[in-house]
Amino acid sequence: MKLKQLLKSLHPLIPFSGSDPEITSIENDNRKVKPGSLFICIKGYTVDGHDFAGSAVQNGAAAILAERPLPLNVPVVIVNDTARAMAVLADAFYGQPTKQLSLIGITGTNGKTTTSHMIEKIFFDQGQKTGLIGTMYTKIAGMTVETKNTTPESLTLQKTFHQMVEEGVQTAVMEVSSHALDLGRVHGCDYDVAVFTNLTQDHLDYHKTMEEYRRAKSLLFAQLGNTFDHNNPKFAVLNADDSASEMFKRATAAHIVTYGIENKADIRAENVEMSPSGTRFDIVIGGEKYPINIKLIGIFSIYNVLASISAAIVSGIAIKDIIASLEELEGIAGRFELVQAGQDFTVIVDYAHTPDSLENVLNTVRQFAKKRVFVVVGCGGDRDRTKRPLMAQIACRLATDPVFTSDNPRSEDPLAILKEMEAGVQGKSYQVIPDRKEAITWAVNQASAGDCILIAGKGHETYQIIGTAVHDFDDRLVARKAIEER
Ligand SMILES: Nc1ncnc2c1ncn2[C@@H]1O[C@H](COP(=O)(O)OP(=O)(O)OP(=O)(O)O)[C@@H](O)[C@H]1O
Ligand SMILES: [Mg+2]
Repeated sequence: MKLKQLLKSLHPLIPFSGSDPEITSIENDNRKVKPGSLFICIKGYTVDGHDFAGSAVQNGAAAILAERPLPLNVPVVIVNDTARAMAVLADAFYGQPTKQLSLIGITGTNGKTTTSHMIEKIFFDQGQKTGLIGTMYTKIAGMTVETKNTTPESLTLQKTFHQMVEEGVQTAVMEVSSHALDLGRVHGCDYDVAVFTNLTQDHLDYHKTMEEYRRAKSLLFAQLGNTFDHNNPKFAVLNADDSASEMFKRATAAHIVTYGIENKADIRAENVEMSPSGTRFDIVIGGEKYPINIKLIGIFSIYNVLASISAAIVSGIAIKDIIASLEELEGIAGRFELVQAGQDFTVIVDYAHTPDSLENVLNTVRQFAKKRVFVVVGCGGDRDRTKRPLMAQIACRLATDPVFTSDNPRSEDPLAILKEMEAGVQGKSYQVIPDRKEAITWAVNQASAGDCILIAGKGHETYQIIGTAVHDFDDRLVARKAIEER
């Protein structure tokens, strides 16, 4: 595409009178620049892309998009906000891919990864080619690509959607983080369905207040637009039992479909029966009852199932097919994942890393635990610090044997993080074992028949970040080894 053609997607007041090279790719990482690339200078948290424009030109960049003039011998287009322009240019360059897909976005504090996998399975079982973008990976019609962020920046995102279109993907399901919404990474995404799971405390390091956090989440619903296309209606799927839904309802003109257990809702769960191996309940839709038996446990799993059913129903899938898909689902890696190595006590690895998810998972464990409940838990460094004392309090309140350890300390001192956890539980009894492997091993060695150990916080992760080093670490493997060596 010619540069001037591409620039037409930006607004007409952008002054540009340079030459008109052919643009063969758009990059914001100078190391990826090839001859013909348009290099976009983005000011990041740690580096400023403007400092790398020269190197991009050396690598063959045909043009630069920047926020200030740069003395370079290729055309430099100046805009007020390169990150904002990047979303527009990426959408234009990749041929507006989200207009060609059915796109389902999921936001909320907890349950996004779980719910997105459920929804993807339902559409896949319909014989569709599916795409998925989220915390664990990006999937494009069965091909898996590793990801860095839950929601990538606009350039990667639109490129991924473009690949999905090329591969014939019909429905794409994506986790939409509040950061991505706030930073405009998803500008241009044409959502058909927006799903809300729940809103509880997290990410206050970034959003500062719960109001700001909620406002960022509400953008997903506002982004469903204000027009009606009666052939392709848009839907906001909201949790009737979470008060934030009221605000999200007001943010959108789209159809509202609600789900819930406690309050009145379009799609409800009734007659819930839980056992250690699964959950049975009735799905109530418009006066009809449909029984379902899922292999997942915990009230929170019912919410995720209801959110998935709602998203699938508004997309036109028959309830009996949705139920058949969900009944088959075995669970999602690192979410309430059992470690079974022949031991006579239960070991569960779960990604709970917020106060709410830790509380939910511990409550679920307690429902079935016959004896002691151990929880091995830490809090990540360089992230919301206000969660630390709260998570420690929940661990001490709901477990008989809390063990505080390190999560991903990142650049922080692991002992300082532990001190902030301990500040919430003065006078309570707990263990502090900073080394995560030692902590897990200690709990495994203490446990006796009928006890339960919850290893919380890292779930599917296969690494631990200490300082800037990324070490191999997998809670599931560490627990298994400890059991075997016991
Ligand atoms: N609906 C829910 N409500 C509360 N807690 C939940 C819910 N679903 C899952 N959880 C808990 O939260 C943990 C994380 O779940 P999941 O990975 O699906 O959430 P997420 O929203 O994708 O998180 P992240 O923002 O880190 O990507 C699970 O391991 C479980 O403990
Ligand atoms: Mg996730």
